[in-house]
Amino acid sequence: MEQTFQGPAVVVRDLYKEFYRDKLTIPVLMGTNLQVERGDYLALMGPSGSGKTTLLNLIAGLDRPTRGEVVVAGDDLSRLSESALARWRSQHIGFIFQLYNLIPVLTAFENVELPLLLTPLSKRERAEHVRTGLEIVGLADRMDHYPRQLSGGQEQRVAIARAIVNDPVLLVADEPTGDLDAKSAREILDLLGRLNGEFGKTIVMVTHDPHAAERAKKLVHLEKGILVDGTNQPKSEGIQVETSQGIKA
Ligand SMILES: Nc1ncnc2c1ncn2[C@@H]1O[C@H](COP(=O)(O)OP(=O)(O)O)[C@@H](O)[C@H]1O
Ligand SMILES: [Mg+2]
Repeated sequence: MEQTFQGPAVVVRDLYKEFYRDKLTIPVLMGTNLQVERGDYLALMGPSGSGKTTLLNLIAGLDRPTRGEVVVAGDDLSRLSESALARWRSQHIGFIFQLYNLIPVLTAFENVELPLLLTPLSKRERAEHVRTGLEIVGLADRMDHYPRQLSGGQEQRVAIARAIVNDPVLLVADEPTGDLDAKSAREILDLLGRLNGEFGKTIVMVTHDPHAAERAKKLVHLEKGILVDGTNQPKSEGIQVETSQGIKA
């Protein structure tokens, strides 16, 4: 699919997110601003509970902000109804989770095919896309395997094939190496690096792992509800982040 829109992959403007629990208001994001250019590879770090997953879910259209704007691939998500947003997500976003989230009763092939069942592609076209996806992640020979027959690293590679099979504008990854041994984690990071470098995929990755963060092109930290740039990292040069105080890196 050609990416026809102009402008950045993601624009987050003055974003606020509060949760409500037992009559308490829990402010999580407090005026977050972020711009992710097409072809960028951004790592989002921050202490546990700082709102990384919350921000990622808002960017991916899985949740709605309290206020503020999220524009992805030129689409203002606040303008989409629930059903339109679900359709939009399936066409524009590839999700990669810490625990892979594969369906245990489906084979690798069937797991990767899932997002395509929502498209008008024929069975044969779907099979071609699935094969290509599994080839990219190096698991074409495991198509008929069930998740329990795969290692954690292989499961994550199947999940990545599923995330890219629709050719989404944006890949969001929430702690994609968080449950993996060092070697498998490196393989996943190599793969994400290739998807960005070779295939031009825009990636936003939440991670605790400094080794993972250092593979990204840019780094931001979420602290006390706002984003601050990661100037401690040499690769964060040229980052475009604004905090609510208007500090620009
Ligand atoms: N659905 C929810 N309802 C209430 N509180 C939530 C919900 N989701 C997240 N939170 C709270 O928001 C804060 C940020 O959570 P999260 O975004 O998951 O942080 P992180 O991913 O950085 O660890 C935490 O205090 C968490 O308890
Ligand atoms: Mg999280």
